[in-house]
Amino acid sequence: MLRRVSAVSVIASIAVLAAVGTFGRVWAGGDAAPVDYTKISPVDLVKNTPKGKLVNPYKDTQADIVAQGGKLLASYSCSGCHGGTGGGGMCPPLTNDTWVYGGDDDTLFRLVTLGSDELQKQGYTRIGHENVVGPMPPFGGIIKNADDLWKIFAFVRANYHGDPAYKFGAPPPPPEPANP
Ligand code: HEC
Repeated sequence: MLRRVSAVSVIASIAVLAAVGTFGRVWAGGDAAPVDYTKISPVDLVKNTPKGKLVNPYKDTQADIVAQGGKLLASYSCSGCHGGTGGGGMCPPLTNDTWVYGGDDDTLFRLVTLGSDELQKQGYTRIGHENVVGPMPPFGGIIKNADDLWKIFAFVRANYHGDPAYKFGAPPPPPEPANP
């Protein structure tokens, strides 16, 4: 009797471990191979990534990355239109809580890479209105690699000064209750 109980519990623990293993893989992003952003152009990254799946590997709390991003923003002449810290100039500020097409990493990466004309052709519409309305030129062929663009966005996020709830666009809906 005792032996049977322990056999059952062993089987139960194996089942639990197997389930945890499966969830672990799902949480880690499935079977997608890790991307080396320094070796892929923004254009190719956009082409190869399903809509909604581009996520900045950097955090805006990484001071060294943010500093590099600021230099890149100036070197790619983004600042000529958007101001030295992205706070706006002739063109919309990047650091307020109005996002023209959405404030998530994926939308911003596609906008800068493709430009606003191409983005609109792909079905995006202006949902937020800045004082300045005009086309954002495509930079995907100018920015050396995706890593540079992620660093620029780390800088943009670090300089954000709008409502914290809107930093990444409209606040997400409350989380769905976990599946039973
Ligand atoms: C020639 C001027 C110009 C240059 C250079 C430029 N932009 Fe823009 N950018 C714009 C305009 C105009 C818009 C608004 C687009 C629209 O309304 O469709 C915009 C929009 C944006 C937005 C969205 C802002 C929001 O509030 O939703 C981001 C992010 C952005 N640009 C980043 C960049 C980056 C990064 C660079 C450099 C790699 C850059 N821009 C270079 C003119 C420019």
